[in-house]
Amino acid sequence: MKKVQLTETVLRDANQSLMATRLPYSDYEDILSTMDKVGYYSVECWGGATFDSCLRYLGEDPWERLRKLRKNLPNTKLQMLLRGQNLLGYKHYHDDVVEKFVELSIKNGIDVIRIFDALNDFRNIKTALEATKKYATKNTVASGCISYTQSPVHTVDKYVQMCKELQSMGFDTICLKDMAGTMTPYEAENLIKGIKDAVGDIPLILHTHCTTGMAYMTIFRAIESGVDVVDTATSCFSNGTSQPATETVHYALEQYGIETGLNEDLMNKVNDFFKPVKQKYIDNGLINPKSMATDSQALVYKVPGGMLSNMIANLKDMNALDKFDEALLEIPNVRKDLGYPPLVTPLSQMVGNQAVVNVLMGERYKQISNEVKNYFKGEYGIAPAPVSKELQEKILGKGGEPVDCRIEDSKRTGKEFEDAKAALGDLAESEEDIMSYICYPQQAEKFFKDRRAKEENCVKYSITEA
Ligand code: CO
Repeated sequence: MKKVQLTETVLRDANQSLMATRLPYSDYEDILSTMDKVGYYSVECWGGATFDSCLRYLGEDPWERLRKLRKNLPNTKLQMLLRGQNLLGYKHYHDDVVEKFVELSIKNGIDVIRIFDALNDFRNIKTALEATKKYATKNTVASGCISYTQSPVHTVDKYVQMCKELQSMGFDTICLKDMAGTMTPYEAENLIKGIKDAVGDIPLILHTHCTTGMAYMTIFRAIESGVDVVDTATSCFSNGTSQPATETVHYALEQYGIETGLNEDLMNKVNDFFKPVKQKYIDNGLINPKSMATDSQALVYKVPGGMLSNMIANLKDMNALDKFDEALLEIPNVRKDLGYPPLVTPLSQMVGNQAVVNVLMGERYKQISNEVKNYFKGEYGIAPAPVSKELQEKILGKGGEPVDCRIEDSKRTGKEFEDAKAALGDLAESEEDIMSYICYPQQAEKFFKDRRAKEENCVKYSITEA
């Protein structure tokens, strides 16, 4: 019997897409032992924005959360999303920090590390891959991930080439990550068939979003074309900007004799558990009904929904909402000038903001954002296609060339970890603390100070009691 496995995303991407990753651990702890028996390929539960959200908004230690997840999901693969050399932030960290982060992630309970680079510059995911291999346990899976986008240079051949590269680098699985939910069934079929022909047996995963309403059709076509794993979210946390519904996909596949291996009874219990959780966040406004709707704009403008709402917010701030249409038309131009980067964070914001600035100033690149300047300097990696020579000259001067970010990384002193350790002093209680601080210095420091104050209060309290 043909088998397709499902990754459940409710704890990470569904939570991130629908409610800005604000789901506290305590809200779902009671369902974890049930989730452990459903039979998912993996549970995506960490990385992405969960780390930032834990420290910044939820007053949770992200490492502690991971250890609790590990304890309560002993039989399920725990999965995280890692932005290669950027870890969970936006700057390039030194190799030893990347290695340490991966080592600690595995040590604290992660099995599947899905590693991507916004530009698909695979030099930026090499260190994370090597660290994953170095610290791998028998359950560890290194998943090489491609940021999917549509542009004149992103052909099936280009994606096949990328997959071959990931395979030869030594990844165990390959994931296509369609963050904007714009992959069509037709594209999925051509891509998956092309990739399967080229890379053979390596398991292939499709990650998409329902944002544009395309996802169910696309994953179905992808499955018919040979994809091995798809990402879904328990139905009350599905659709809209989230993933397709786990239960729905399961029922549809069963009828075709495609086995998912999921236990229906338990799968439904998981959904029943999350229904009131979701309602609570609709009631308090954290889940915006807009995020639950289908928005086909992205198919028209070829930009992710989140990027559009970001642009609208920017224009509103500047009292220039009437320039929205003009700014939209400017996006493809900016994107072309930048060599067609995939529109994923942080590039989506970079392109969107520059398009807005170009339109507001009434002249293209009269003002250039620091992010765009750094992009041209080579700080993000290599662009998928040649960038505008004119703009490059404007930013780097005549004959100026971008630096090789990986060579620049290796030139650095490698003191990031030691410096962070020294800066924190005895506020840091573990290597994990130091890593939190490196990723999010202000948020982590505040969290550690609050934690210290709480501990001191507890001591005081117990002395009074005695
Ligand atoms: Co996603």
